[in-house]
Parts: sequence; structure tokens; C-alpha cells
Amino acid sequence: MKKITINDLLAWKKEGRKFASVTAYDASFGKLFEEQEMPVVLVGDSLGMVLQGKADTLDVSVEDLAYHTRSVRAGNSQSLLMTDMPFMSYATPEEACQNAATLMRAGANMVKLEGGAFLADTVRMLTERAVPVCAHLGLTPQSVNIFGGYKVQGRDHDAAEQMVKDAILLAKAGAQIILLECVPGDLAERITQAVDVPVIGIGAGNKTDGQILVMHDMFGISANYMPRFSKNYLQETGDLRTAVSRYIEEVQQGSFPGPEHTF
Ligand code: KIV
Repeated sequence: MKKITINDLLAWKKEGRKFASVTAYDASFGKLFEEQEMPVVLVGDSLGMVLQGKADTLDVSVEDLAYHTRSVRAGNSQSLLMTDMPFMSYATPEEACQNAATLMRAGANMVKLEGGAFLADTVRMLTERAVPVCAHLGLTPQSVNIFGGYKVQGRDHDAAEQMVKDAILLAKAGAQIILLECVPGDLAERITQAVDVPVIGIGAGNKTDGQILVMHDMFGISANYMPRFSKNYLQETGDLRTAVSRYIEEVQQGSFPGPEHTF
């Protein structure tokens, strides 16, 4: 597999070529995903739930994410590797720079932050200092206590308009990828058309440029419940590698996510 950069994702968006991505937390899966030519891999703070067994992601530290980023990078040199900035690690632009540097030194190609317009200065500060940023909108799991649970976001008119504005603003501030989690499919499609940067969706319908799944959901082995928007590819194929290649194929063809996975 050739090394994937943001330029490949931008070219694919222009060509209308859809791409898959997945979370990973260790070298063995990092390698397996590289062998299957997974273009983008995320070291997600979902590790708090799927590896540490917590009810949310809030207890995950920068050190945890640096450790798992180093591990995935050891097995995978070619995928574009994004790493989450954990809860409160980007409360100020200065803290964001310091903590992002730790994650970039561990092997990340890009960091991911959860939040809207209020992050514009932070995104600008990071990108001007050579840290590429993915902006995560919609259901941002670090805000679970503000939302009162893991709920679909952007259902009403005002919230949807705000999300479109946030995506445009964050892309203008320098965000190179927008990630949308648990938003209605038509809103995700609108945002995908409104910005020039690639948009990756999870629980956001099949009109985004890319898709992402938590690997434990894709294999049906999550300690927590299986989200409605996910699909158990291991059950369907009976083999880890075939599960991954089937997921990549279905995303490229636009057949995953289907209507049953869309809000
Ligand atoms: O932490 C994570 O795994 C994520 C994905 C759900 C996109 O942010």
C-alpha cells in the first residue's frame, strides 16, 4: 500500500471516490489494516470504552493516546494516522499545542478535536504550527454529560444550521477533515457539499466522502452495546481480513451504510 496523505483524500473527494477508515489501538491490528489497504486509521479515545471498559471516554489521557498511537504506528507506516485529543487536553489553544505535539511525536499525522465554532482559534493555532486537524461535529462523545446521553444531533432546524456554519468555519480555520457522528443523513450530505475538505461520517448516512467504524463494532466484539449505525462484518464473513476488505468495498460502492444504518 502506498503512503496515504491528506492530498489523496482531497483528490478522492474531487473524483467522488469514497474511502473507508477504522479505529485501531495496537500494532497487530494496525498492520492488518495496512495489509488490507485501509487509507485512514484513527486512534480513538473510544479506547476508554472498548479497551478500558469505561462508560464514556472522559478518563482517557494524552499518555494513553500517545501509547496507543506509538503502538499502531509500529505496525502501520502507510495509513494516514489520526489520533484523538482527549477530554480537556485542548481547553486552551496553548494546552492544545503542547498536547498535540506529544501525539504528533508519537506518530500521528493529524489530531482530532471535538467541538464547533468555539474551536476556530485552536484549529488555526494548531494548523499554523504544523499540526493538521480533523474537526469532529455532531455527537461528540466527550460532551455526553452536556447532551444527557449518546443522542443523534442536528435533528432540529437551528441545530442543523449551526452545524453547517460550524463545519464551514472550522474548514476555513484550517481543519483538513470534518468528521460527523450521529447526524441525519441529509444534513451530513449538505455539510459534505458545503466544504472543500473531506468529510468522514459515522452514523451519518452514505453521502459523506468517507466512513469510519470503531473496529470492535465492525467485528461485533464491543464490550458495550452495538450501535444501530454499525455493521458486524465478522459475523457476515467469518474471517477478520475478509471482514475488513468487505467493509472497504461496501464503502467504496456506497452500499454501506444502508438505510437501516442511517438516521
Ligand atoms: O473515538 C473514536 O473512536 C471516534 C470515532 C467514533 C469516530 O471518535
